[in-house]
Amino acid sequence: MNTQKQAGMGRSASEHDAPWRPEFGSGFRRLGEAAAWGFAICAPMLAMTGWLTYRGAMEMRAAQQAAYEATQAWERLAEAPAGPSLPLEVAVKGREVFVTVCAACHGPDGQGGLGKDLTRSDLVARFDDHAFREFIIAGRPNAAVPMPPRAGRPDLTDADLDAVVTYVRGLQDPRRMPELPPLVLTTAPVTEAEKAAAMAAAGGDAELAEYIASGAKLYATTCIACHGPGGVGIKGNGKPLVHNEFVASLDDDALLAFIKRGRDPSDPKNTTGVGMPAKGGNPALSEDDLLDIIAYVRTLQRPAGQAAASK
Ligand code: HEC
Ligand code: HEC
Repeated sequence: MNTQKQAGMGRSASEHDAPWRPEFGSGFRRLGEAAAWGFAICAPMLAMTGWLTYRGAMEMRAAQQAAYEATQAWERLAEAPAGPSLPLEVAVKGREVFVTVCAACHGPDGQGGLGKDLTRSDLVARFDDHAFREFIIAGRPNAAVPMPPRAGRPDLTDADLDAVVTYVRGLQDPRRMPELPPLVLTTAPVTEAEKAAAMAAAGGDAELAEYIASGAKLYATTCIACHGPGGVGIKGNGKPLVHNEFVASLDDDALLAFIKRGRDPSDPKNTTGVGMPAKGGNPALSEDDLLDIIAYVRTLQRPAGQAAASK
């Protein structure tokens, strides 16, 4: 029985008394033919499968290699010989843009805060200047913590964007950063229209109007990135400041103390899980600057008709 089963010919023992022998002329040949056909059919398929598996594996390896290299972009930049020194004037301009726009979220030295560390960002290292600029224009409005398009500053000019791109190149590779003079922030002079708006918001009080106009300018350089133009708020970045109960509940001293400190996500009083950096992330703001900003923010608390100074 055993042998029969092994031979697999399906004969029963009663048909032959003699011990079973393979019949070379018939069954085995057919088996051989079948095997040959089988092989002829299967071999190309096997070869194909093998080839596809091999190619798939090679493609996966190439993708893994590319992904790995993408994560090494900044390191490669740091290890490669330094590129040419960056043009001084553009770097100075770029620093000003960075400090007044990007620093609120990326930290004064670009090492990260609400936004990511840019000094070692592989993405930045991989960007050419054009792609970097396009990134800032588009922002990442859909990220868990969003980066607003144009960094929340629709007033940034093309020259501003080019300058900040250049400056960040220097943050990524300090060997290329020219020696920069001490930082001096230039705020554009208050326009007549802004003066008039501030005067109306101040109810004709010329001194208060000056504070409001200055505060509006400073707001537009530091706070606007997260709180939006006119304090309307930006979802995921900063709350609305118009008709804001918290603002209304505090006197100027308390509000000043709040802005100086900010509100870290670890603060039990934090309401959104997103942090408000100390001084809105701009350490260059003096106490007087902050009081001017407060004077401006007060104008955002008036009923709609009276908020003439809010942009
Ligand atoms: C209101 C906050 C905010 C401002 C202002 C801002 N960013 Fe961002 N930025 C972010 C956040 C948040 C992220 C991370 C988004 C994410 O999770 O993908 C980010 C990400 C980035 C990235 C991608 C980094 C990486 O490795 O993925 C770059 C580049 C960048 N910002 C550049 C800038 C520059 C340059 C400026 C100034 C012109 C700027 N940002 C201003 C919030 C901001
Ligand atoms: C990097 C983003 C960012 C910048 C820049 C920023 N803020 Fe904020 N601010 C926030 C966030 C986020 C909150 C909400 C914190 C929380 O969850 O409670 C907040 C909250 C506040 C509040 C309290 C509002 C409330 O209802 O609790 C005030 C007032 C305020 N900010 C004023 C300012 C002023 C004035 C400036 C400019 C000097 C400024 N912020 C700059 C992110 C920012």
